[in-house]
Amino acid sequence: MSKSSKPWKSTPARHKSAADISVSIRAANIADLPSLVALENATFSADRLSKRSLHRHLQSDTAKMLVAVSGESCLGYALLLFRADSSAARLYSLAVDRKARGRGVGRALLLGCEKNARRCGRTYIRLEVRADNKKARALYISEGYSARVVVSDYYQDGMAAVKFEKPLRSRRASIGQA
Ligand SMILES: CC(C)(COP(=O)(O)OP(=O)(O)OC[C@H]1O[C@@H](n2cnc3c(N)ncnc32)[C@H](O)[C@@H]1OP(=O)(O)O)[C@@H](O)C(=O)NCCC(=O)NCCS
Repeated sequence: MSKSSKPWKSTPARHKSAADISVSIRAANIADLPSLVALENATFSADRLSKRSLHRHLQSDTAKMLVAVSGESCLGYALLLFRADSSAARLYSLAVDRKARGRGVGRALLLGCEKNARRCGRTYIRLEVRADNKKARALYISEGYSARVVVSDYYQDGMAAVKFEKPLRSRRASIGQA
């Protein structure tokens, strides 16, 4: 669990997907490390986070990790980074178990990140995604993220990154505009 002086309030949010799986989003803790390593290794072939990095992020004051769980299974995770001098939170990683994809887990994690970024006083979320990652780009666009800039030769294999950004409206503002 994060050593943040402001403890993470992790009341699990429950989401039901079209495929009728019930998923809870909660803050990750050290007991999730083996699942996080397995997910990371199964998902990414390059630019992977090592076990050591994942462990460090789990204990960092400037990182928040969320996991999507169904029963005993960890179906996905998201890593959000915070910098003291920035009004933006950075979505650094998002991964869903192949067997659970297309059932709303990625979206539930993304919405969980937005909620937590708001709670931490951030007014934006920023992220980079591989230019050839159509699924992830479709997810971000469907949730209101805008592509800001393309950075060539960003990843280890030379692939470009698209930088996305979304302003986070406060809950009160969202309700007021509904
Ligand atoms: C990208 C990823 C996180 C999406 O997770 P997921 O649980 O499959 O996504 P969801 O079921 O919540 O779908 C949300 C949206 O993503 C997009 N999407 C998901 N699967 C898609 C597919 N096969 N083709 C096109 N768009 C797709 C759609 O916009 C979808 O919304 P819709 O169902 O209303 O059409 C998942 O595919 C993944 O882990 N990929 C490998 C790692 C990765 O690319 N991470 C992102 C790095 S920035």
